[in-house]
This record gives sequence, C-alpha cells and structure tokens, in this order.
Amino acid sequence: MTLRTPAPADIAALVASSAELISELQDPGGAYPASPTFSAYRGYSWFRDGAFIADGMSSAGRADSAERFFDWCARVVEAHEDDIAAIVSAARRGSPVPDEQMLATRFTFAGVTGEDDWWDFQLDGYGTWVWAVAEHVRRHGVDAGRWANAIGLTVDYLASSWERPCYDWWEEHAEHVHGSTLGCIAAGLTSAVELGVLDDARTELATAEAAAVEQALRTRTVAGGHLAKWVGSSAVDGSLAAIVGVMEVVPAASDLGLATIAAIERDLTVDGGVHRFLDDTFFGGGQWPLLTCFLGIALARAGDPARARELLGWAYSTTAPDGSMPEQVGRHLLDPTMVDEWVERWGPVAQPLLWTHAMFIRLAVELDAHLRATATTVAGTDSLETTA
Ligand code: BGC
Repeated sequence: MTLRTPAPADIAALVASSAELISELQDPGGAYPASPTFSAYRGYSWFRDGAFIADGMSSAGRADSAERFFDWCARVVEAHEDDIAAIVSAARRGSPVPDEQMLATRFTFAGVTGEDDWWDFQLDGYGTWVWAVAEHVRRHGVDAGRWANAIGLTVDYLASSWERPCYDWWEEHAEHVHGSTLGCIAAGLTSAVELGVLDDARTELATAEAAAVEQALRTRTVAGGHLAKWVGSSAVDGSLAAIVGVMEVVPAASDLGLATIAAIERDLTVDGGVHRFLDDTFFGGGQWPLLTCFLGIALARAGDPARARELLGWAYSTTAPDGSMPEQVGRHLLDPTMVDEWVERWGPVAQPLLWTHAMFIRLAVELDAHLRATATTVAGTDSLETTA
C-alpha cells in the first residue's frame, strides 16, 4: 500500500498529543497504565511497557513524568526486598525458588500484584527500568540517589536469576531463555554500574554478571549471524530491534547488529509494519507500530535515517482519527483465522496503547536529534522542542 509521508508539523503534533495523553493517563502515584480501556490490561502497569514509556517521556522533555514512574518502580522493588533476599539465597544454595515465587511482571497502580492470573515471571522489565533510569540521568543530569536502593536490589535479583528460563516480552514460552530478555538484563546491569550508585560489592557483582549475560547473548542466542529469539532458535523476533537499537547492547552498526536488523526487515516487516514473530496468532498476528519504531531507531543508529523516516511514516499511519495509536493493526495478518477468538475473549485490539505512543515519540526524537547532529537543513522541518 502507498502511504502518505506525514509532514513534519503532523509528526510534531502527534508527538505532542502522545506526550499529553500519557501524562493525563499516568496515575498520580507514578504508574503508567498499559492501556486505559483494554479489558485484559486495565488497571495494571508493566515494568517493560512503563520503562519504555518513561524513556519516551524523558526524551520529550517530560522529566517529571519519567521520574514519578521510576519512584513507583523503586517503591514496588523495595516492597519486595524480603522476597528478593529469599530468591537470592535460594539461588546461592543451588535450590532456586519456583517460578511462582519470582517477582511479578505487572502490578496494580497501588503497586501490588493484583488478583487476576497472568503470565508472571518475566525478567526483562527489571533490567529495562534500570536502563531507562540511566538514559534519563544521562539526558537530564539528575541525581539517581533516590533510586539507588531499589537499583541495588534489582541487581541482586537479576544477578541471581538471569540464567533462568522465563516468559518473554510477549508473555510466551516460559520454557526458553530469550535473546531480548538477556539483552534487557545486560542493559540493566551495565546501566546500574554506569550510574555509580552501587556499593563496591554490588559494582563488582553487576560488572561480572553483565559481562556473562552479554557473552550468553552473543553466543547462545545467535543463529545465521543474527540475534535469535531464544537459545536454540534460528528465528528472529521483533523485540530484538530494541537490543541492537535504543538499548545498544549490541551496536546497530556492528556486524551482529546489521544482520539482526536485516533479518527483522526480511522476515518480519511488510510495507514498514513489523510483526512480533512469524508464528504469532495473537489477534491474528498483525503488525505492531511500537516494533516499527524500535526498528526505526536501530536503522537510524545503523546509518539509514531515510528508511527510519519511512518507518516513522508507517507508524504514523496507524493513528486513529481520534489521535489514539493501537497495539497492533490487522493490515497484514499472519493468521486471520485467529482474530475472532481473541476479540471474543478480550474485545477489540488495545487502543490507545501507551507504549506505542511512547515509541512514536522516541523515534521522532531520535530522528530529530539525528537531523541536528548531521546539521542537515530540511526546509520546513519543525523542531520537536515544542513538545517539551
Ligand atoms: C504484550 C506485552 C505487553 C502487554 C501490555 C501484551 O499483549 O505481549 O509485551 O507488556 O501486552 O501492553
């Protein structure tokens, strides 16, 4: 399909309205709802979604919003200090606690686990929130001291448990060790050290474990020259664009980064819309604008801002007339027979999904920064500074 390239003013307007939407929906206690209306997500905040939303908001100059989310994360982690101590000591004794006793994936806005069953035990979000804090500190020069205790506890948790199989970004396949989960953990441990808020013992622990996780990522989850979905898989997953892009665990312009981007383009991207993975059947397995934005950031960092701009245009095209952006669109379904089943179960696709809005902001800011760095003059280009 042919897409209209959005004008710079349209992009700036969607960035501004997205930041406004996220800000309005943020709970006063700091939690970001995944989606205010979607039946299965309503009332919950995920560490994964929230950390990327905070990064998007931070990049758009909304420092206060991002910091309130980090405060919420810190309160949740600190409330689980005893659980973390038990998890760490059981792992040290060589008899790790069962998955049900690991920390949850999502919490109510009040910071409790909630009554509904979920595919709990996912490690990635605990790395991602620490990474987002470090990005924020680098960008805004704030003091990370108020999150130091929670970051230390997060390091203990991740260092003790990173080799465990767990559910992935898509809350599936708990039996595997996933490439993107390892990438998020490596980013979190490295960021914790870079923030300089750990004591000596934890600095040593985080440094050693970050190196081990990265080594595992680069050896155990590589197939055909690119990062792979899980240990033993030869497939790629859309989430890996974050590991080689915005998180830069593997630099986008390295051989492994370029091969991963190429595999996502080749296997998962149609007309600029990126699928999660080839076997996806959730709501028929559509295309996820947030993944298109992750891929766009990776491409910009790999030296292809023109393709990244096309992807920004594709993500823009998924916006509804009321300005809300969805979790996925059904333009190119991998398994159309599965749509009805999900609609009956949970209602229509989540919209707005705050994570999608945040990734649109983040890619737009990335491209804006790229434009300034290369000092290219494009007639009519608006500055995204209006969004701050
Ligand atoms: C996705 C998760 C996401 C959650 C909330 C799920 O459908 O698989 O990645 O964290 O929705 O947005």
